[in-house]
This record gives sequence, structure tokens and C-alpha cells, in this order.
Amino acid sequence: MRSIISKAVIPAAGLGTRFLPATKATPKEMLPVVDKPAIQYVVEEAVAAGLDDVLMITGRNKRPLEDHFDRNYELESALRRKGDADRLARVQESTDLATIHYVRQGDPRGLGHAVLCAAPHVGDQAFAVLLGDDLIDPRDPLLSRMIDVRARHGGSVVALLEVDPAQSHLYGCAAVEATEEGDVVRVTGLVEKPAPGTAPSNYAVIGRYVLDPGLFDVLRRTEPGRGGEIQLTDALQTQAVDEKICGPVHGVLFRGRRYDTGDRSDYLRAIVRLASEREDLGPEFRGWLREFVRDEIDGVAP
Ligand code: G1P
Repeated sequence: MRSIISKAVIPAAGLGTRFLPATKATPKEMLPVVDKPAIQYVVEEAVAAGLDDVLMITGRNKRPLEDHFDRNYELESALRRKGDADRLARVQESTDLATIHYVRQGDPRGLGHAVLCAAPHVGDQAFAVLLGDDLIDPRDPLLSRMIDVRARHGGSVVALLEVDPAQSHLYGCAAVEATEEGDVVRVTGLVEKPAPGTAPSNYAVIGRYVLDPGLFDVLRRTEPGRGGEIQLTDALQTQAVDEKICGPVHGVLFRGRRYDTGDRSDYLRAIVRLASEREDLGPEFRGWLREFVRDEIDGVAP
């Protein structure tokens, strides 16, 4: 069962309260990870998986997102006048990446509602959803594997990460059955942010989904769930328990590098790791980091 997937949906209407005051007037998606806004990594990931039609679900105060992916003629001509070809190329990179569309969510009624806002744009093809808080290291491709699983099994595909049971209540969690492929499971049930000790497994849903368009109808019928919001997890649960609705739900077990830029500590870790690995910044930064750890961290009692 082959299907062509070309559309990516990126919900980006959240308030980013965990990063206040930085996010008072700046969307959280624009916070830099080294020297690129977090959202650009996510769009690059979609494009690398062959999805070059991107729809962002935005809200109030999200204009900087549109500006970032648009031309900035003034800046471009200033850099051209200076003969700064490198920086000019960096400025133009985000403009040439993909065709980006925007729709506003209006009322923030949850992730399921945000995805439903994409229905008129997506139409009747399978599509991907990428949550901006999760950065997946480009060296550990996940989305292309999920698209491959959808092409073979139909239905929807979620990305699963094995987490410490103490963390399960922060995620959607899946009940799973093994398949013949080591990194693919059949999802038999899903619970959004289960109370501590009640998760069906240690497999947490992370922010990548490949969804069957039939899920839009399920979302339309989904009542508000956890937090009074329309939950994508609840719609996927409906799909998982009755494959006649719009096919099965599978999970791809992700064992690669992922950074949760919605969490302040993880955000800092992502910056340190990615800066250390950069060819231009890495050598000097690693040297400083080594000294910093030796003098400041090892020297200070816990
Ligand atoms: C959302 C989903 C949750 C998922 C998580 C992954 O929650 O509702 O099921 O596990 O993303 O990051 P949020 O983090 O937006 O509260």
C-alpha cells in the first residue's frame, strides 16, 4: 500500500510559558539553538524526509515565524553590499527551504484541535505532524522510517521512545505488541499523560506522527480530554482499537538522539551538544568546556 506523503504540519500556537520572560514577545519556536531558531531545524527535518509543503498552525504573536521564512530584502542587500556571501547564504537558507503556509488556530483548544485546523490544507492524503519542542538529530532519521511503515501498513504511525517510568506522566503512552520488525510495534492503546504508576508501558509518544487523513473525522468527534483539550492521543486511541475506522496504528521505536527544547535543561543540553559538534565553533568551545568542567564543576561540591 503505497501513498505519497508531501505535507508536513507543524503546530506552533503554544504560549511557551516555560521560557518566560524570553517568550513574552518572542515565539518559543524562535529561540536559538546555537545560531538557528529551533523551528528551522524542524522544517529542515521535514524537508530531509521529502516533505516540502509545510503548514504551520500559528496564533497571536507568531509574526516572527513568518518573517523568518520570508525574504528580508533590506538585510540581504546590506550583506551583498558588504560582500558577505557566507552570511547572505545563511539568511537566504530559511527562505528557500520549503513552501510554507500558515493558518491560525484561533482558540487554543489542544493539539488535536491544532491538527484539525490543517484539514482543509491537507485534504485526503496521509500527512506528517512534527511538534516543534522535539528536535531529532539529523544523523538519526526517524520520519523517513515512519513514512516507510505507513507505506507498508497504512493507517497512522507514531514515534515511541522508551522512558524512565517516572517520566511517563509527561507524555502520551502506548500499549504495544511486537511485530516481526525489531523497531516496529503494533499500538493497541494510548493514554494521554497517565497518572503516575498507571502507564500501559514505558513507551512514550514523542513529537513525530504520520497520520491517516481519516483521523480528521475522528478528531471532529473527539471530546475534550486531559486538561479540557482535544487530544491527538485520544483520537489515535479511537483509531488503534478499531482498525476499520482508518487502519491500524503502528509505532516506530526511536533509539536515536532527541532534544526536548520545550524543557529548559534539555534545551541547554541541546545547545552544548550541538555547539560542541560544530566544525566552526566546536574546537574552541570544547576546549573551554573541558576547562569549565574541570575548574568550575569538579571543583564545586555537589
Ligand atoms: C504532546 C502530546 C503528548 C506527547 C508529547 C510529546 O504533549 O499531547 O502525547 O507525548 O507532545 O512531546 P505536550 O508536550 O504538548 O504537552
